[in-house]
Amino acid sequence: MNALWVAPVMPDYDSARATFSWRRERSRLAGLPDGGINIGYETVDRHLREGHGERVALRCVGRDGSLQTMTFAQLAAASSRFAHVLEALGLERGERVFTLLGRRFELYSTVLGTLRAGRVLCPLFTAFGPEPVALRMELGNARALVTTRELYERKVAPVRSRLPHLRHVLLLDPGADPPPDTLSFPALTDAAPDEYTVGSTDPAEPALLHFTSGTTGTPKGAVHVHEAVLAHHVTAAYALDLHEGDVFWCTADPGWVTGMSYGIIAPLTHGVTTVVDEGDFAPARWYGILADQRVTVWYTAPTALRMLMRAVPRDGKPTPAAWHDLSALRFVASVGEPLSPEAVHWGREALGRAVHDTWWQTETGAIMIANFAADPVRPGAMGRPLPGVEAAVVACGEDGRAAVTGGHVQILQEPGAQGELALQAGWPSMFRGYLHEPHRYEACFADGWCLTGDLVSRDADGWYWFVGRADDVIESAGHLIGPFEVESALMEHPAVAEAGVVGRPDPLAGAIVKAFVLPRPEYPPDTELRRDVLAFARRRLGPAVAPREIEFVESLPHTHCGMVMRRLLRARELGLPEGDVSTLETPGPAETTGHSGKEP
Ligand code: PRX
Repeated sequence: MNALWVAPVMPDYDSARATFSWRRERSRLAGLPDGGINIGYETVDRHLREGHGERVALRCVGRDGSLQTMTFAQLAAASSRFAHVLEALGLERGERVFTLLGRRFELYSTVLGTLRAGRVLCPLFTAFGPEPVALRMELGNARALVTTRELYERKVAPVRSRLPHLRHVLLLDPGADPPPDTLSFPALTDAAPDEYTVGSTDPAEPALLHFTSGTTGTPKGAVHVHEAVLAHHVTAAYALDLHEGDVFWCTADPGWVTGMSYGIIAPLTHGVTTVVDEGDFAPARWYGILADQRVTVWYTAPTALRMLMRAVPRDGKPTPAAWHDLSALRFVASVGEPLSPEAVHWGREALGRAVHDTWWQTETGAIMIANFAADPVRPGAMGRPLPGVEAAVVACGEDGRAAVTGGHVQILQEPGAQGELALQAGWPSMFRGYLHEPHRYEACFADGWCLTGDLVSRDADGWYWFVGRADDVIESAGHLIGPFEVESALMEHPAVAEAGVVGRPDPLAGAIVKAFVLPRPEYPPDTELRRDVLAFARRRLGPAVAPREIEFVESLPHTHCGMVMRRLLRARELGLPEGDVSTLETPGPAETTGHSGKEP
């Protein structure tokens, strides 16, 4: 296929928006015979029914560069076996199966088997330490876990006693002397039948659980339902310009929502070939995959692009497009963090394709705002709302969040006005709850709008521009990190009296986690203690969440209610004005009382 000769799926934005209806788009799905919708069915069964079982669904690049493929028929068989295993183990419909897995074939058969069987899938990030793993499995009442022996022994076995609901641990590689209370994934699946009939599934039945972080409290378990697949499917066409015959590569880790919605579900519903890279990021490896696999559509993240930009000295040297054959590459998009205009331009020069920014979040389940294939990219802008998505900028109150007065919000029409991004509730992949936390869920909605927690502005042409988060959540390398989770782990260290955690801007990762730590008086705040606290946090939280920097302080600023004022820590770190400090317990730099605001 000549990349230049493919007409965009959506040639004209305005007319697509004017005529769009989610109900009509529903005909793009196969649907279950009784009218229900099942994500697993849309990803595999439909292709077999339509006679495309021999198409390559997955092309897996091993760490050593070896190549393995799996057709839709093989994927259907493998996921059928896993669906039978879940039934044989006695898991009820709606019960939760967790994965702690990198990108490998078994991940796909586990996810799709779980969805086809009507059980709920919750993926975990393999770079989490035992603490975030245990917390999420506790909150999600994990019934079954699929992982590797190594990950189990390092991250789950030490916390298993905290997980009474976890009945079945299935190891991909149990070995000759498996750890106690574990089952063999290969033994169970090998013995199971390779055909499975997807049962009746209500479109509003829970399918996926994704944990995401907030400013306070425990991680939030966002619940998504089977009809979300309509949004996965449609947005992959409209925003990622996915066509039949494409070779698609989504680089996101399967432990996060992007890795699920676009790494697994969306491309499989389209019947295209998905590239699965078992290896880790390395510039030469990634360029090699783009070229050798003839990737046509590439969905990645700004942090990865920045790493590629750094790796290639541009001045006077040939660009990657010059020494790799990237001629198949037709569309490049990114998500997760602001995409700088520089990265857009770099894409044009180095890859031969501008990078298209897209915006969404765990709660939205699918892309909501994007730069589209048919339009010139507006560098620095997130893009415009997808057809079927109504967005608005809502006026904020003193706390920096959308102001809700008498149940109403004020929509700002003025171009350039800054406020909280809101989306009209009701698109198919909208989250349907935070697990066990109805009040937290309700607080996300006002006046029919879903409030996103992001500050944005909209220009006169309707393009949205990212301004920042309205809360204290840290965005590091495209992943959200809850400061409270990090602070809680730090406080478990015997020397830590209190901690305040913020994001410090970083040229590569966007932000890194920095902790301000108030040590207990009997512990001198020296290099050795810093090293010890850092190592302690890393062991508990894992490298993806643990602070990279610790600064010992003699006191932390607090509000009158005793909450650490992270906003002030951030402002001081960056040398910015401190803003409104009226709620500060002991205002100004004089607050060096050594009082932590909490009992030791
Ligand atoms: O703050 C926004 C940022 O990532 C948040 C969502 O993170 P998460 O739920 O982990 O999902 C990540 C991938 C879907 C958003 O609230 N974000 C996402 N995309 C962009 C972005 N910030 C700026 N520009 C974007 N394009």
